[in-house]
Amino acid sequence: MDTHEITERFLRHYEAKGHTRVPSASLILDDPNLLFVNAGMVQFKPYFLGEVPPPYSRATSVQKCVRTPDIDEVGKTTRHNTFFQMAGNFSFGDYFKEGAIESAWELITGPQSEGGYGLDPDRIWATVFEDDAEAAGLWRKLTGLPSERIQQRGMEDNFWSMGIPGPCGPSSEIYYDRGPDYGREGGPVADEDRYIEIWNLVFMQNIRGEGAGKKNFPILGDLPAKNIDTGMGVERVATILQGVENVYETDLVRPVIGRAEEFSGRRYGANHIDDVRFRVIADHARTGVLLIGDGVTPGNDGRGYVLRRLLRRIVRSTRLLGVQEPVLQAFAEVVRDTMGPTYANLVTDFDRISEVVRVEEEAFLATLTSGSRIFDLAAAETKNSGGDVLAGDKAFQLHDTYGFPIDLTLEMAAEQGLTVDEDGFRTLMEEQRTRAKADAAQRKHGHGDLSEYRKLLEQNGETEFLGYTELQASAKVVGLIEDGRPVRSVAAGHKAELVLDRTPFYAESGGQVADIGVLLGDGVKLNVLDVQKIVPGLFVHRVEVTDGEVGIGTELTGSVDAARRLSIERSHSATHLVHAAVRGAYGKRAAQAGSLNSPGRMRFDFTTPASVSTDLLTEVEEEVNDYLQTDVEVQSYITTKDKALELGAVALFGEKYGNDVRVVDMGDYSRELCGGTHVDRIGQLGLVKLVGDSSIGSGVHRVEALVGPDALKHVRKEQLLVSQLANTFKVPTDELPGRIEDVLSRLKNAEKEIEQLRTQQVLGSAGALADKAQDTGGVSVVAEVVPDVDGNGLRALASDVRGRLGDRPGVVALFSPSGDKVAFVVATTSAARDQGIAAGKLVPSFAEAIGGRGGGKPDMAQGGGSNPAGAQQAVEALRAAVAGIGR
Ligand code: ALA
Repeated sequence: MDTHEITERFLRHYEAKGHTRVPSASLILDDPNLLFVNAGMVQFKPYFLGEVPPPYSRATSVQKCVRTPDIDEVGKTTRHNTFFQMAGNFSFGDYFKEGAIESAWELITGPQSEGGYGLDPDRIWATVFEDDAEAAGLWRKLTGLPSERIQQRGMEDNFWSMGIPGPCGPSSEIYYDRGPDYGREGGPVADEDRYIEIWNLVFMQNIRGEGAGKKNFPILGDLPAKNIDTGMGVERVATILQGVENVYETDLVRPVIGRAEEFSGRRYGANHIDDVRFRVIADHARTGVLLIGDGVTPGNDGRGYVLRRLLRRIVRSTRLLGVQEPVLQAFAEVVRDTMGPTYANLVTDFDRISEVVRVEEEAFLATLTSGSRIFDLAAAETKNSGGDVLAGDKAFQLHDTYGFPIDLTLEMAAEQGLTVDEDGFRTLMEEQRTRAKADAAQRKHGHGDLSEYRKLLEQNGETEFLGYTELQASAKVVGLIEDGRPVRSVAAGHKAELVLDRTPFYAESGGQVADIGVLLGDGVKLNVLDVQKIVPGLFVHRVEVTDGEVGIGTELTGSVDAARRLSIERSHSATHLVHAAVRGAYGKRAAQAGSLNSPGRMRFDFTTPASVSTDLLTEVEEEVNDYLQTDVEVQSYITTKDKALELGAVALFGEKYGNDVRVVDMGDYSRELCGGTHVDRIGQLGLVKLVGDSSIGSGVHRVEALVGPDALKHVRKEQLLVSQLANTFKVPTDELPGRIEDVLSRLKNAEKEIEQLRTQQVLGSAGALADKAQDTGGVSVVAEVVPDVDGNGLRALASDVRGRLGDRPGVVALFSPSGDKVAFVVATTSAARDQGIAAGKLVPSFAEAIGGRGGGKPDMAQGGGSNPAGAQQAVEALRAAVAGIGR
């Protein structure tokens, strides 16, 4: 049974039982605590918590999931995967344990002819949470599972949460016995290779607090209702139903390995070392392509870094399989073909995905090339000093600067008969990690611990944002935090964080910077310095109390700095227009990769398939400014996600929870999902002036623009500059380019002429120099110091002098001090060479005197040194050397 059939049967089974089929959410939901969506329930979290009323009481989905804590383990075993699909059924306060157990049993053991999976009931085992006698009883009663195949386990195994505060509950897991060939008797508690977990039923009923690990957290209380959250491992079921050994051999994963086999000419299954590489490729290619599909781009932190690591591991693994050419686009195609039928965006967005991997691979291959050079040097150094262990700091440098993973360094070292000081490497890595952690903690405003903010959110609900329509509003203080601790009041002279029940201040998000302004109350005045949504929904104002004292319950009137806000809004609206123009120019392949909307200035990053031409940017600027003339009204409205997509709204990465989204329209030109604030009519932008564009690496391009009065100011400044230049050059402005070109070319000619004159002058001295030849043991030696002649001049001069020595055995050595350097040339006549006198061999005799080096052929040697004062000494040394040979 192929994977598609497995998921279809799942969804149909639950639809028939009144569940609404819900599509998979994006892998990146807007939850700051979660790197990637890691379970089917994530998109339903607000319903479990009772924050939003569920639109249905039963749902079913197949969710794409990414879990990345054990990237290094992937491939070494067949159990670790970073990408998988979780099929689930969910009940929001509807059926509970009984319904979940009964329906799961029906599906897995139901005959295949009737839509089930047809698994042998005698091979099924279940585990239940140790206190949950009810679940054990239900298993016996509803399925006839004998007591000896129902095992009890503790918190670690049978209590599920997302790993962060939120909904959780005891669980019951379903296992399939693969038979004695796969391990010991004794059920899942004895052997999880033989008994593989296929389905986890979570009886979602509690809320957990902060804490690490699988059991070190407090249970804060009960959820408003008893719910069901289940997750069936689609790939695991496929493994069983397709009768293969492991996930890597199933229908949707094996084709990637097949492509790697074609590339490398090696075979999967031939030896463990290669198999690990094949599996890394297969796993990471799926994860990488799916992540890019959902808008992640390779970068140096957070999600982008995980993606970069995955892609680089594919490239490296393929190279270790002996493949030199680029491979990522080919692997991406295989993933598109296997996963596209389920995730249509992989097909429609393939050009962009393919481009992202191409650019990343190109950059990494360049890295590999330069890193290999560093490696070769380090290896040679190690060998030359008689060692056979590459130093830990070299391995670290390769990793840190050139992105060389340690196993690549190990592999390359082994090829050269070297080992690597891995302990030294790891110590340095550890030190760096500690530094990075400290940095990250600081960067996050020192908000390492979010529990106080979460408490405020729980107590007061989300902050009501009034700022779409109001710039001034009264509100009540509901929370105060000073130095990370909740306080009752804050006095003048102190800074603190303040939460209001409602606010006109925009909190930084979606690239739009936060508002600033003032909060005034009875005898109290505060400046608002910054606003951040430290946990989603909670607007935290960073304030400075300048007068009086503010306390919980104080009534304040907030006034946003209106001029600044308008200026920010102009930037934000300009960003939408630039985005639309860029998409018009490049098509869908240009996807937004980030933006910044600050007063008077906007920045827009997008992934680009190719280099960006100046002409194109001029067109973008023209098009945007033309469109401003229409002065259309900016309209925003709330609608459902589906409706918005149907309307063609551009959805950016990082979807929001819930089904309602805000759409911002600018005529028929631009339509985006956006939570930001905008001008009323686009005519208010006045002028959008692109001021810079650059590539910020890995296929991401950045355009910057000034908007409104700031754009005008910029234009005026440039104009002033031009008129100053016109004044200096004494021509009308439109003749400036011609005049400057003219001046430059005259300058160049003049320089050339000077150069020629100098050469003539230098060469003019050749005769005099030749006359100075001294006989040294039968060899005519001209060794002189000639100041301020450059390398080329010196060479010409030496040739000329040599010519004048005719058939005699002769050596010409000229030293030219200039500033803090000295250049030299040594030339020999052919008669001298016949006597075994080689120019290159003479260099060491004087090199030390001038602090330099150089070398060359027997007829001519050239070089330089850093000690001009030693020139005369060098002359003597050379004469002595020639005398030595002559004797
Ligand atoms: N949410 C549960 C899991 O991920 C079903 O295992």
